[in-house]
Amino acid sequence: MLHKNFQNIEPSSTLKINELSNKLLKEGKQIYKFGLGQSPFPVPDILIETLKKNSHQKDYLNVSGLFELREVVSKYHTKMNRYNYSVNNIIIGPGSKELIFQCQMVTDMPLILPKPSWVSYEPQANFLKKNIYWIETSKKTNWHLNALGLEEHCKKFKFKNRLLILNSPNNPTGTNNENLEQLSEICRKNNIIVISDEIYTELDFSGEYHSISHFYPEGTIISSGLSKWCGAGGWRLGTLIFPKELDQIYQSVRSLASETFTSVSAPIQFSAVKAYTEDHSEYLENSRKILQKVAHFVYEELSEIGIDCIRPQGGFYILCDFSNIIKNNNLISNSTTLCEKALETAGFAMLPGKNFGIEDEKLITRMAFVDFDGSKALSFLEKNQSIGNEDFKDLFPKIYEGISKLKSWLKDDFLS
Ligand SMILES: Cc1ncc(COP(=O)(O)O)c(C=O)c1O
Repeated sequence: MLHKNFQNIEPSSTLKINELSNKLLKEGKQIYKFGLGQSPFPVPDILIETLKKNSHQKDYLNVSGLFELREVVSKYHTKMNRYNYSVNNIIIGPGSKELIFQCQMVTDMPLILPKPSWVSYEPQANFLKKNIYWIETSKKTNWHLNALGLEEHCKKFKFKNRLLILNSPNNPTGTNNENLEQLSEICRKNNIIVISDEIYTELDFSGEYHSISHFYPEGTIISSGLSKWCGAGGWRLGTLIFPKELDQIYQSVRSLASETFTSVSAPIQFSAVKAYTEDHSEYLENSRKILQKVAHFVYEELSEIGIDCIRPQGGFYILCDFSNIIKNNNLISNSTTLCEKALETAGFAMLPGKNFGIEDEKLITRMAFVDFDGSKALSFLEKNQSIGNEDFKDLFPKIYEGISKLKSWLKDDFLS
């Protein structure tokens, strides 16, 4: 009855952990949600007001997206990505996840993924029976792909074209790829088309916008949207921006979109224009400050007891290696059982590294540090210059308690 490509498929692990955490919460358990990476910040007021005013918009819109919206998206990315993007090479879709999938669907090329990579790229490729090549990375390169790794892969496997998905700041590692220029040379030499997943780029704590398009615009498709920097994950608005050189792929995605989702909800698109035309610098600066504060707290606390992790540089995530603490343990022999035990014992929900392509036997997990009231933290920063350590517990109670519960469990069971 089922198509062979869709037998034994499971819901995305991020959504599964969220559903499980919610179920345990409903049962009255104290749960610290470090699983799903959802923005803790509210959608800026101006977008909400515009959405209300546009609730009457009822028509289907252009498959590529509302012209006015594409115009401002093209201006924004022309500036940020330093290439002249045409209004006619942009597509607005119901989230960048769907757009990345459609891009994978229309391109007949093997897929290269750095290990680790975001949870959905691989299952999407599996639905399409694409050949996937994982390239190892290490802590030395911030868990990012570097030129050497890519070059070795290209020497070993000969293909006319290939597709590579890069993501920086990164989910799951929270770090930046500092090898973009060198990578761009290898990509150009080997006809590699890059999907540059820039959904977290506005949340780079440095406030700078780094992209491989600065070095390799002609081979880079930019994937972005409102879900992370604008707090609007549930609005489901993503963007794909193509250089003119990749117009063929663009036209195919557009045709596929016309036969599948048609267009993103009209009121959302009218309102999204304001995301690109209003000045959100204070909101963004404060969001970054808050995330950086929380990230560094989590990093310092975990490092203190010997969990091996890298100080995050942007976004919501941190990748944690527990192997210094948990050794030769029969009950916890892989990242999956580690996450199950942490949830059961400390009420701490996180995701196993396995979901990101890391070998399950490595005791590596991903935490998302977003279980706090983003509106409260933003209001605090509007009145105060910075967040002091004395304010932390009050502003981020579940982060504070969650991390301390996790540490107590580890100390009691493995470090005493
Ligand atoms: C790395 C990465 N890319 C893409 C997405 C998808 O975002 P959306 O479909 O909401 O645009 C996510 C969401 O968690 C993500 O973490």
